[in-house]
Amino acid sequence: MSDYQHQPVLLEEVVEALNIQPDGKYLDGTFGRGGHSEAILARLSGKGCLLSLDRDPEAVAAGEEKLGKDPRFSIVHGNYADMERYVREWGVDEGLDGILLDLGVSSPQLDDPDRGFSFMGDGPLDMRMNPLQGVSAKEWLAEAPERELTRVFWEFGEERYARRIARSIVMTRQKQRLETTGQLARLIENTIGRREKNKHPATRCFQAIRIFVNDEMAHLAKGLVEAIEVLRPGGRLVVISFHSLEDRLVKRTIKEAARPGQVRRNIPQHPDLKPVLKAIGKAIKASESELSVNPRARSAVMRIAEKLA
Ligand SMILES: C[S@@+](CC[C@H](N)C(=O)[O-])C[C@H]1O[C@@H](n2cnc3c(N)ncnc32)[C@H](O)[C@@H]1O
Repeated sequence: MSDYQHQPVLLEEVVEALNIQPDGKYLDGTFGRGGHSEAILARLSGKGCLLSLDRDPEAVAAGEEKLGKDPRFSIVHGNYADMERYVREWGVDEGLDGILLDLGVSSPQLDDPDRGFSFMGDGPLDMRMNPLQGVSAKEWLAEAPERELTRVFWEFGEERYARRIARSIVMTRQKQRLETTGQLARLIENTIGRREKNKHPATRCFQAIRIFVNDEMAHLAKGLVEAIEVLRPGGRLVVISFHSLEDRLVKRTIKEAARPGQVRRNIPQHPDLKPVLKAIGKAIKASESELSVNPRARSAVMRIAEKLA
């Protein structure tokens, strides 16, 4: 197992937002390296319990090693989009007191070049959070039609040069296979140049490929609906997003669930017409003091909602 560490973002804010009841039942849908899970457990009594999920087998192995001996703790290799099933299997019927989703990738995933998430170190183009499932970035880039490449870069990366980069990938792959993160990063840089001072030109496309390969937006949409379902009245939903696409979906879902009436198209459908959630406060961002020790917290946005009776 790797030694890469992850510094949890907004740690105190998460604990406060969850409004932890010592005897309560909690779900951490994105265990990572367990910084938040550990803080939740520290506030639970012997009667409280925590179920953590992660779709990355390395995160689950780290969780078993770190917290596996605690009888109040369980960890499952699974997707938070299927949390209703995992909560049922866990044996909790009366609803949860709180759910945390700390979205995106962990530092261990980003920092390990073998996972292929980052252009900072050269590694195989993989980018799957669960390497046992689905199609790797390399396989997708080798096969995807130019239009699909363009759409993904535009939709999930908001990359204005999406079309140009897609064209360049298609031209290049006719001559050589795209195998590594370094190769792709150089291709993008050669195609659009360095336009922003502090941002690598491949940043947006790497984000887009990661979101696509892991089907992140669909899982988030389903996960939010299931979260609302498995909370008990008064239970808290806390979600930390790292880019505007995620935050927009979280914000819209909470807003829609907080108003009576029919939900609109393109957002998760909830069968109940009564308001089911109330938003708690406004979006929360990391403080200057946190940013000074953890620059990765810069893009974090936390939203809180409470399930209504
Ligand atoms: C930002 S990290 C979480 C860090 C964690 N809160 C901590 O303190 O260490 C996100 C984690 O969520 C996992 N993940 C992302 N999407 C997931 C999904 N749909 N289901 C389960 N786990 C997911 C990733 O594999 C990663 O380990």
